[in-house]
Amino acid sequence: MKLEDKMVLVTGGGSGIGRALAAEFIRRGNRIAVGGRNRGKLTAVAVQFPGLEIVRCDITSPDDRTRLVDAVRTAFGGLDVLVNNAGVVHAMNFLAGRSFGARGSRRRYQPHGTDPSGRGFSAHAPGVGRGGDP
Ligand SMILES: NC(=O)c1ccc[n+]([C@@H]2O[C@H](COP(=O)([O-])OP(=O)(O)OC[C@H]3O[C@@H](n4cnc5c(N)ncnc54)[C@H](OP(=O)(O)O)[C@@H]3O)[C@@H](O)[C@H]2O)c1
Repeated sequence: MKLEDKMVLVTGGGSGIGRALAAEFIRRGNRIAVGGRNRGKLTAVAVQFPGLEIVRCDITSPDDRTRLVDAVRTAFGGLDVLVNNAGVVHAMNFLAGRSFGARGSRRRYQPHGTDPSGRGFSAHAPGVGRGGDP
């Protein structure tokens, strides 16, 4: 996977693992947007990395998620990589590829990986994921 000249969104990128990932993406020459709830954290990361886009967003809020998508579309015109560091996971059977169902399923906000093409984002926010080859 080539990770240069990509448009990258890191949710929960104001601190911790998300911030470290954003820093590495910047070092490799990508354009980065980070989302998070705390404006102070986001401002600090923007000061450290000029040119980085920040979007105040609580990913548990549908309105905030819509704003985040709109901001990414405005800033980048699309998205190549989504790092869903603060994201939603559904517990599922890894081998069978099926959800455990209503009784067994858990829906939690926690990191759940990277979408190298932005296609997953595209599925939920049509027209945003650029859908190029990884
Ligand atoms: N550190 C580890 O060894 C480790 C190991 C396994 C898993 N994890 C998991 O990996 C995740 C990141 O770990 P970390 O150590 O980097 O944690 P962290 O330092 O607490 O960072 C979490 C980031 O996510 C943001 N965030 C939290 N809830 C959010 C929400 N609802 N909407 C938007 N942003 C939100 C936080 O910023 P705001 O508060 O400003 O929103 C913060 O920037 C955590 O969920 C942790 O449980 C960590």
